[in-house]
Amino acid sequence: MESVLIVEDDRNLSELMEKRLRSAGFRVDSVRSGRSARKLLRENCYDVVLLDIRLSDGDGLELLRELAGAVDSKFIVITGYGDVSTAVEAMRAGAVDFIQKPFSFDILQMSIDRALKEKRLEEENLTLRSFLFERDHEITFETRSTLFRKVLEMVARAAEADVNVLLRGETGTGKEILARYLHKLSARQEKPFVVVDCSSIPEHLFESELFGHEKGAYTGALQRKLGLVELADGGTLFLDEIGEIPLSVQAKLLRFVETKSFRRVGGLREIRVDVRIVSATNRNLREMVRKGEFRSDLLYRINTMEIEIPPLRKRREDIPLLVKHFLRKFRKKIRESTLRELSEYPWPGNIRELRNTIERASLLTEGEYIDEHICAPPEEPGEEDLFGRLPTLKDLELMYLAYLYRRFRRADRIAEILGCSRRTVFRRLRELRKRNGDSENGSASGSAVHLD
Ligand SMILES: Nc1ncnc2c1ncn2[C@@H]1O[C@H](COP(=O)(O)OP(=O)(O)OP(=O)(O)O)[C@@H](O)[C@H]1O
Ligand SMILES: [Mg+2]
Repeated sequence: MESVLIVEDDRNLSELMEKRLRSAGFRVDSVRSGRSARKLLRENCYDVVLLDIRLSDGDGLELLRELAGAVDSKFIVITGYGDVSTAVEAMRAGAVDFIQKPFSFDILQMSIDRALKEKRLEEENLTLRSFLFERDHEITFETRSTLFRKVLEMVARAAEADVNVLLRGETGTGKEILARYLHKLSARQEKPFVVVDCSSIPEHLFESELFGHEKGAYTGALQRKLGLVELADGGTLFLDEIGEIPLSVQAKLLRFVETKSFRRVGGLREIRVDVRIVSATNRNLREMVRKGEFRSDLLYRINTMEIEIPPLRKRREDIPLLVKHFLRKFRKKIRESTLRELSEYPWPGNIRELRNTIERASLLTEGEYIDEHICAPPEEPGEEDLFGRLPTLKDLELMYLAYLYRRFRRADRIAEILGCSRRTVFRRLRELRKRNGDSENGSASGSAVHLD
């Protein structure tokens, strides 16, 4: 049975909707205030929330901003007649539709049907995607970010086009996961996906790792060995951290990328393979080309299609979705206020760091809510110099806080030691982050507090 939560302080309207929706076959709960709505939404799942944007106890818009990205429900906003600007804002904050008072039941029913359809489609899409991907990988591509949606679209297009693809992005943004996804979407999905970790192969072994060697090619080559490119035949060759390939190897790789043929070390025969090359890097290859560290002809061969994966701080709207995704496995929950803290943090380690933070907290939590064990870490300061002047009391306080953070990484523990509330700890950590941010930007408002 599909469920609806009504958040409306007009008793008559609320009761009327409740009655009609029940007889239309919905499970309905109804509350009069934002506070009760928050409570119910935290404890239950609703398919649709009908939200009056002007609640007497506060702002419905505020509630929408807070919860639209955080819970799985679809929000339909009820506005006063002629309240267009609020409606626009509501849509921006994540509502799927708005209806203006007074409205007929048909209008309401239509709007709910549309919302339910959208929700079902999203869910199907999601299961389909996860199903397509490796079952044990716990991957999600659910997103509210236009930037990331574009990335997914480009990956799908690249998968079809069978061209060489370069994935660029900071550490932990999901380059390898997207490379695997691309492979799974492509016509090569049944063939191998072979990873070459360019950062871990020593220069003198590169050639034989990539292209293999014949027996006796050099001392120690007791048997013929197939190279990674040969193993990838028919499939995808993933050159991870391609920026780390030494120049000497780049020339050999270039020849292979151009001709798709190679010789094993110590071999005479030219071998052809059919592989698609997907490369990944967190370095600026163009800059490296300028410095003479990366061959421009190689760059232009591998980046037929280039996809830039945004860091998590540029797709903050996805942080609540990811947090909930990582929590699902542990059957844990998180409070909205903590979720907001997490959404503000810049996540230099991106999805990997977020996942580690959530998993760690989940493992430490015995109860249902992981909040006590979460502490969005302060940003690393940019300056080496501790203060550059005699420290003020505030400096010392923040420095001590940074120390406690490094030592315990738990807001509840830090609060206990300092004899203050968790809220205060969060506030101070925010201050610390802000100050570090300011001093990175060269503002004179305070020196960075070094964390080491
Ligand atoms: N779409 C996703 N769904 C779930 N988890 C993800 C997703 N993308 C990334 N992660 C998490 O982040 C981790 C890092 O992803 P991945 O190895 O693809 O990043 P990367 O960009 O290759 O990073 P690096 O540059 O450090 O190698 C994964 O192991 C996984 O835990
Ligand atoms: Mg990687």
